[in-house]
Amino acid sequence: MLQLSKKSIAQGQVFACTNKSENECFERLLFGTNRPYAPAAMRVRKGDFLFLLNLDSDILYGVFKAASDAKMNIQPEAWNGKYPYQVKVQPIGKITQLKDAKKLLTVLDIKRSFPINKEATMKLLELYRPSNSQMDEWFQFLSEPGSTPLEISKETKSWELLGDVKQISVQPNEEIPTLEATTLWDFPKQSYGKTPKGNNKYPGVTPAAIIWNLIWRYTDPRDLVVDPMCGSGTTIDVCKEEGRRVICYDISPTRPDILQNDSRKIPLQENSVDMIFVDSPYGDNVKYNEHPNCIGKISSETELFYDELEKVMKECHRILKSGKVLGWLIGDQWVKGRFTPVGFKVYQKLTKYFDTVDVICIARRGQASHTGLWYNRARRFNFFLRGFKYLFIMRKPSGEPVKLEQRMVKWKYYDRNRSKNTPS
Ligand SMILES: C[S@@+](CC[C@H](N)C(=O)[O-])C[C@H]1O[C@@H](n2cnc3c(N)ncnc32)[C@H](O)[C@@H]1O
Repeated sequence: MLQLSKKSIAQGQVFACTNKSENECFERLLFGTNRPYAPAAMRVRKGDFLFLLNLDSDILYGVFKAASDAKMNIQPEAWNGKYPYQVKVQPIGKITQLKDAKKLLTVLDIKRSFPINKEATMKLLELYRPSNSQMDEWFQFLSEPGSTPLEISKETKSWELLGDVKQISVQPNEEIPTLEATTLWDFPKQSYGKTPKGNNKYPGVTPAAIIWNLIWRYTDPRDLVVDPMCGSGTTIDVCKEEGRRVICYDISPTRPDILQNDSRKIPLQENSVDMIFVDSPYGDNVKYNEHPNCIGKISSETELFYDELEKVMKECHRILKSGKVLGWLIGDQWVKGRFTPVGFKVYQKLTKYFDTVDVICIARRGQASHTGLWYNRARRFNFFLRGFKYLFIMRKPSGEPVKLEQRMVKWKYYDRNRSKNTPS
């Protein structure tokens, strides 16, 4: 019996449309999505199984196969450019419509922001089996390359009558971070996903989801990302997995794909980089290496520390394209009874060269000082352990003046004395 086994089956992905955009999906044989779902969509590879959810009619169309790897703007004019993360699709047999789709996806724990794991893909495929075909015939048909013209069955089927969906115990989906929506980011682990990002034993290693969030907000696939002080290479691992080009330097490289360089002079042309991430030393609190030019040997209680970091900022400004973004991670210092506002001082220097996009508070986790002993000391001797870092998101000015009418703010004032039911 020839059967598509769980091992050999490709993973799946659900794309969405509305009544308005559905026709274009079928006419173009193209599925597309926008930024919030792009990280999962861009993982689609040729041969993956795809399904189309109509959010208005609550119908799940299947089965399709990806006829290409996902790419940006395969057809830039599709949906007036609203859904640029796209994949070409190929119908597999007659397309079936399953109703109550959102409930089905909830039961199978399928979300559009994650690839569908093999077990849940298999379960979905079973539901689309034509009634006149045996399971093994169906799976053989699915595994053949074939090319079927688009034909959509008129009738909508109820998945509850097609299989015992509730009994499935799905394996966790591939772990992908989510796009953060607020200015408070708290990641429980340094890394995510199937492979390590950077080395979580490296002193001062960056939480990988910070870099992931920045590149998905401010760059597109194939854009060039640079990290001039990249330590254990977290930026390289995140960027490679997300299809960005990446160049990383450090004064003392820890692996062959990191170039040796002092970040006060970066060997790249001006206006050539799409995004920069810097997690610089915060002072001389961590021993990174023995290199004499390591800025991490200079105390953040001295002005020299900020002057040397300013040289790095100037270089970042030079190599970054106008209008593009630099993310700079930094924390304050409290040592032997003295507080140093390292974050404020670094921010002040950054504003000499960049406009501020936003300031993010990053919860500090996994710190050596986050132990019962130090918590006890902090309370007994009346000081605070560092609980957060700053992520300054800065933009190289594009030179275009801000249009005044764009800045007209219409605040909606609420009167506390008015009853809740009074229309405002
Ligand atoms: C906080 S660590 C970066 C951690 C890194 N993002 C990671 O995830 O592993 C700061 C890095 O700055 C590097 N560094 C210090 N001075 C430097 C300089 N002058 N040029 C380039 N890198 C430097 C250190 O070697 C160290 O690896």
